[in-house]
Amino acid sequence: MNKKEHWDSIYLSKSDEDLSWTQLEPLMSLKLIGEARSSGRVIDVGGGNSVLAERLLDRGYTVTVLDISEAALERARKRLGAKASQIHWIAADISSEPNLETFDVWHDRAVFHFLTAPGDRAAYQKLLLQTLPAGAHAVIGSFALDGPQKCSGLEVQRYDGPMFAAELGSQFSLLKTESEIHITPWGKQQSFQFSLFKRV
Ligand SMILES: C[S@@+](CC[C@H](N)C(=O)[O-])C[C@H]1O[C@@H](n2cnc3c(N)ncnc32)[C@H](O)[C@@H]1O
Repeated sequence: MNKKEHWDSIYLSKSDEDLSWTQLEPLMSLKLIGEARSSGRVIDVGGGNSVLAERLLDRGYTVTVLDISEAALERARKRLGAKASQIHWIAADISSEPNLETFDVWHDRAVFHFLTAPGDRAAYQKLLLQTLPAGAHAVIGSFALDGPQKCSGLEVQRYDGPMFAAELGSQFSLLKTESEIHITPWGKQQSFQFSLFKRV
C-alpha cells in the first residue's frame, strides 16, 4: 500500500472515535495560531477531519486544508455541509512538492512526525520556505520525546522544539514550545509538543 492508500483506508474504515488523534477542540492549535495572527490566510497541513478549519473560519481567517487522503477531505466536507465551500481543499502529499500559494500561518498537527525519510523532510522544509514569506508563522505539533513511537501503524520521529528548529533551519526563528497531553477517544495519554516559528 502506498501512503495515500494507507491513509484513505484508515479514513474509509474507522470512525472519528476510533482515531487516536481526534480531539473535540483544537485548543493548543487555536491558541498558538491566535498568538501568531488574529486574521489572515492559514493552511492546515494534514488537516484530515479536524474541526480546526471551521473554528478558524468562524474566527474570520481564510482557510486552506491540505491532506494526502481524499477520503479524509471528503469526510470533512460532508461534516461541514454548506460551510465547506468557504474552505479551499487540496488533496496532495506534502512531501511531493505541491504547488501552493503563500500563507500567513502554516499549521501542522501530527504530520511532520511521519516524515521519517530525510528526503521527505527536506521537501517539506523547502515547501515551507516557498510558502511562508518573511514575518509569517508556522505552528507545528508532533509527538514529544516521551510520546508514542508509532501512530496508525507507522513509525514516527519524535521532537522537541530545538530539534524542530534544527530541521527547519536558520530562516525560521523558534518563538516558543508548549507541551500538551492529548487524551485519545479511548482515554490514553499521548505527549505532544507544539512549536511556534517565525520566518525571518
Ligand atoms: C495523525 S493525523 C492528524 C490529523 C489532523 N491534523 C488532526 O490533528 O486531527 C495525520 C494526517 O496527516 C495526513 N497525512 C499523512 N501523511 C501526509 C502527507 N505526506 N501529506 C499530506 N497529508 C498527510 C493523514 O491523511 C492524516 O489526515
